[in-house]
Amino acid sequence: RSSGGARGGRSGLATAAAKASATASRGVLRTPGFSTKKLVIVMVGLPARGKTHMARCLERYLNWLGFTARVFNVGEYRRKFLGATQPAAFFDPSNPEGARARWELALECLRDMTNWLEEGGLVGIYDATNSTRDRREVVRTRLEADGVRVLFLESICDDAAIVEKNILETKARSPDYRFVDAEAAVADFKKRIANYCVGNETVLDEEQCSYIKIINVGSKIILNGITGYVQGKIVSYLANAHIMPRAIYLSRHGESEWNVTGQLGGDPNLTPRGRRYAHALNAFIMAETKKYAAAQPRGADEASDDDEDDSRSVEAALPLVWTSQLRRTRQTVAHIPTINMCWRALNEIDAGVCEGLTYASVAETMPDVAAARKADKLRYRYPGGESYVDVLTRLEPVILELERQRGPVLIVAHNAVIRGIYAYLMNKSQSGCPSIDIPLHTVFKLTTRAYGAEEERFPLDVEATYNNRTPDSDNADEAQEGGEAVDGAEALAPAAAPAAPAQDGKVLSTV
Ligand code: ATP
Ligand code: F6P
Repeated sequence: RSSGGARGGRSGLATAAAKASATASRGVLRTPGFSTKKLVIVMVGLPARGKTHMARCLERYLNWLGFTARVFNVGEYRRKFLGATQPAAFFDPSNPEGARARWELALECLRDMTNWLEEGGLVGIYDATNSTRDRREVVRTRLEADGVRVLFLESICDDAAIVEKNILETKARSPDYRFVDAEAAVADFKKRIANYCVGNETVLDEEQCSYIKIINVGSKIILNGITGYVQGKIVSYLANAHIMPRAIYLSRHGESEWNVTGQLGGDPNLTPRGRRYAHALNAFIMAETKKYAAAQPRGADEASDDDEDDSRSVEAALPLVWTSQLRRTRQTVAHIPTINMCWRALNEIDAGVCEGLTYASVAETMPDVAAARKADKLRYRYPGGESYVDVLTRLEPVILELERQRGPVLIVAHNAVIRGIYAYLMNKSQSGCPSIDIPLHTVFKLTTRAYGAEEERFPLDVEATYNNRTPDSDNADEAQEGGEAVDGAEALAPAAAPAAPAQDGKVLSTV
């Protein structure tokens, strides 16, 4: 790390000035037209309070928005340097060796995070209990000395049933208890929590810091001193999120007339094969829903042998269906008997002057457009149309609404749009998003879990054109993989305005 410190031959004043400017620039991300202070979210709370869960959700959301974020988890440092099998006594605050070792690891992790911020990271997420005021004070002053803004994110949960479920779901299966049976793991973890309860202090206003307190999984949220765009985004994300696992189904529309001719965009109808996919999708969703309905707990008064009751409970368990406003997506869901919402934000990327053309005719008649898109597919905006960053920006309200839903959702949209939503759910970088392979006539089932989503793919048995990539930009896609995320300024364009209701199709509401 550059220290900005004294070097031979420099006057004291010059050194002080250099130091001040190094400190200031360490904490600030500068890009043309955009500058924001770097931020560290310091997680706070007893073990098994969902800190890692929330830290990873925020990391995924912020990266997807284009704000480079990374979780630094002190527990991983402990496992790496001391092994995974420390007993509860290691966490006893009256065990001086354990306390010293834990503090050293916490500092090592903090150093790595500040180095990462200095190398270009924008939001560090410091994932540890940080449950005592003294420890938070050291962390906060070190970060602020580097010009970094600090936000405490505390999870408080006194619901014993939730804590028990969290221990069983994540802790008893963690590497800490690989060789221990579940019952012994839960008992040891409870002792670990009891050790952390000694000296546990909630964040106080006197700590002079911005904070968010999530109480009993968001049944109450307390905010203090929230400032700036990124912190505002974090608050609205946390206010929408919940921890119920559920399935999200993603599919492109059935094969369209323009998929066959290779034309971009437009509002074409489905082909006969596309219409067959619409039937196959309905059959698939009905089968999934029956399984889901059968797995739902039922009250004693609901138990029945009646077929009519069964079909009512399947109907109630059907996913919400979200489509774009374009014909091909609405025709694809036409047979699914459920609430259907039609979003303008789910319309395909607007190819501007290239709408209706094929990739080959774009390359021939507008070689500069084809070359510029190939060089930077993520940021390149079609003349009169959109870039992938524009699409991601208009998808943000869809993502927040998706987070809010507690039951299953089916989204039928388009190549670029499904790539954007898939990238969010599967934690893919913005830069890799334009090259994600989303074939036609395939359903992606993504089930949300404690630390991320689980993916299953169902190619339904209806033939379709292989139409999922820009053939001439595949190399550029690969070159962009792992590249730099787009800076926040580009991601800040206003979201698309609510759309007018669609004219036909089985649309009950529009957003
Ligand atoms: P540790 O300090 O041991 O690392 P932790 O606080 O990081 O524990 P997690 O590992 O994140 O806890 O616990 C995951 C579990 O917490 C999941 O089962 C998830 O459903 C649940 N969870 C997520 N958010 C919350 C919350 N705000 N309050 C309570 N539980 C939550
Ligand atoms: O070809 C189908 C399609 O949905 C077009 O309408 C759209 O322009 C294209 O895919 C988006 O994919 P890419 O960004 O790879 O060109």
